[in-house]
Amino acid sequence: MTSSLVITGCDRLRGTVQVPGDKSISHRALMFGALAQGTTRIQGLLAGEDPQSTARCLRALGVEITDLTAPEVLVTGVGLGGLQEPLGVLDSGNSGTTLRLLLGVTAAQPGLFTTWTGDSSLTRRPMGRVVQPLTQMGAKIWGRAAGKFAPLAVQGTALQPLHYVSPVASAQVKSALLLAGLLSEGETLVTEPHPSRDHTERMLRAFGCPVTVKGTTVSVMGPAALTAQNIIVPGDISSAVFWLVAATITPDSELTLLNVGLNPSRTGALEVLQQMGADITILNCREAGGEPVADLRVRSAQLTGAVLEGALIPRLVDEIPVLAVAATQATGTTTIRDAQELRVKESDRLQAVAQQLGILGADITEYPDGLVIRGKTELRGGAVRSLGDHRMAMALAVAGLVGRGAVEIEDAQCAQVSYPNFFKVLKELRNGQ
Ligand code: S3P
Repeated sequence: MTSSLVITGCDRLRGTVQVPGDKSISHRALMFGALAQGTTRIQGLLAGEDPQSTARCLRALGVEITDLTAPEVLVTGVGLGGLQEPLGVLDSGNSGTTLRLLLGVTAAQPGLFTTWTGDSSLTRRPMGRVVQPLTQMGAKIWGRAAGKFAPLAVQGTALQPLHYVSPVASAQVKSALLLAGLLSEGETLVTEPHPSRDHTERMLRAFGCPVTVKGTTVSVMGPAALTAQNIIVPGDISSAVFWLVAATITPDSELTLLNVGLNPSRTGALEVLQQMGADITILNCREAGGEPVADLRVRSAQLTGAVLEGALIPRLVDEIPVLAVAATQATGTTTIRDAQELRVKESDRLQAVAQQLGILGADITEYPDGLVIRGKTELRGGAVRSLGDHRMAMALAVAGLVGRGAVEIEDAQCAQVSYPNFFKVLKELRNGQ
């Protein structure tokens, strides 16, 4: 049984938030640290369930990693090709990044046999998008539905480099192939329809591995060794956006969000909110760990609708559930298109957003690749479901702040995947001065 949580309307939100570490960068810091020579030290790592899944799999592959909840996490690198054969099945939990990136790494290590599974969401998500190009490189991978879904079995072997033209803009696909390319002899290239987040490229360079970027093509030359680093993980903009929307649509609110990563491949939601009329000020711009970082101040504001499409979508792909909440409170129509990737996230997020916000009275039409949201609607209370999707749980909580009745969210605790103390922080901000 999963417990539910009740969110009631809120007069105002006030306070300062230390946003938890970036999930994408946390996964990569653990993985690249594991594959490097020497000890990598990580500060600001997200200790949520997803990075715990990466750490659990890496530990089972023979990598020593200290407690993720400590202020500094140490990863003792085993070097490229140094992973040990695990005794049991590797469980990636809810985490697509864990499974897809580590498939690339383990498929390319000759002699290493691994088996992989995940939770009821992950085992339904498409793995063919990495299995198929890895197989083109010579990988030996078996799985459900001819390798399209986990559980998967991988017999590591020497791979050939590849120039893969990906049909989807996916940092997970790109990263899995680049990591496999590191262990292969020659140049591996990945071309995407639009640029996806570039944390892999930035961090590989920081670990001493040259990465070439030409337009939407990224390449590495293998074999390449990684050298241990000290990594500072910035706050996750995907987590910060819940507070940006919450403070914008709750009257009389002002929040300061500290240490938010502003990598341009991730700032689509910030730009869209500003374009919609949000009152967001960027303060103290600086660089930390090879990533741009700043503090954000947000105040209540009236929004107007916007169009989200094309190359913008990969730059805000994880923020669409909470941007949809913002759109219900905006005057006019918000149109989201080219977002069919949302159907294969932790839940089918187009359907989840349309159905669950619909229960609260939102006026949303679902299309195969997007949503049309007509505002401004007064949301009401109701019983909604997170569907085990952390970002749905938090988006529904934000909707509850402006609702005229109590919003009961089934399985809200799945927020821990990316934001362990989200509901505790929400409580503090409601009582903030
Ligand atoms: C991620 C890439 C994105 C994103 C996910 C994290 C990553 O997925 O939605 O939350 O860390 O590389 P896709 O690569 O499937 O677009």
